[in-house]
Amino acid sequence: MSGSYRRASMDEHLYDPEILRRANFTKYMSKFNPRISIMNPGDNLLVRPLNSGDYDRGFLKLLSQLTKVGHVTREQFHERFATMKECKNTYFVTVIEDTLLHEVIGAATLVVEQKFLHDAGIRGQLEDVVVNNTYRGKQLGKLIVLTIVALAEHLGCYKIVLNCKDKLIPFYKSLGYAFEPGQSNNAMTIRFNAPQFQSNL
Ligand SMILES: CC(C)(COP(=O)(O)OP(=O)(O)OC[C@H]1O[C@@H](n2cnc3c(N)ncnc32)[C@H](O)[C@@H]1OP(=O)(O)O)[C@@H](O)C(=O)NCCC(=O)NCCS
Repeated sequence: MSGSYRRASMDEHLYDPEILRRANFTKYMSKFNPRISIMNPGDNLLVRPLNSGDYDRGFLKLLSQLTKVGHVTREQFHERFATMKECKNTYFVTVIEDTLLHEVIGAATLVVEQKFLHDAGIRGQLEDVVVNNTYRGKQLGKLIVLTIVALAEHLGCYKIVLNCKDKLIPFYKSLGYAFEPGQSNNAMTIRFNAPQFQSNL
């Protein structure tokens, strides 16, 4: 058992939940009818940081509704969790839990990138947005995305960016995301055939 695994094996948050409490969500409230918010997401729902116990609350099963997850063992999960936590102020994986079922039913991640640009500023990136298919259409997608936006603003990011499938452009536009002049449709990728289970990090 590695040191990282031991460190992350207790039930612990990836980041301080107090940060979510401090993020200013009021300007997004008008987007919701009926009104929901980070602190009041709805009956038996809780918005919180990813927890090391979420391996057993269906977090990876939820992510598999977004893309291929593969076989991630409990130990791999805890090691990745510990590594993310060690990268201070970088990974803000945020989830919605159904507290009756003890199941993670929504998730999104804010990655904070340190820059030399913009007066040594920080830039946010929205990643891995997903809501369990049996909970969709209840504003929880909007809630988790705007939670991340509020978090990015609270932390002091000068902007937040995302990549998405074409069909989701209207969804993100409705939440304030916009193409910058001359930058529509220019997300580009190189995919590698590198061994999937080996990293030289
Ligand atoms: C995209 C996703 C997170 C939306 O979650 P949701 O809880 O159903 O979203 P909401 O209920 O908050 O819907 C908000 C609005 O977005 C629209 N919307 C939701 N999903 C959409 C989709 N797939 N395509 C286009 N519009 C969509 C809704 O119609 C709704 O519009 P309205 O406010 O005018 O009624 C969810 O469909 C999902 O997890 N999809 C699979 C994973 C995925 O594609 N993630 C995004 C990766 S970029």
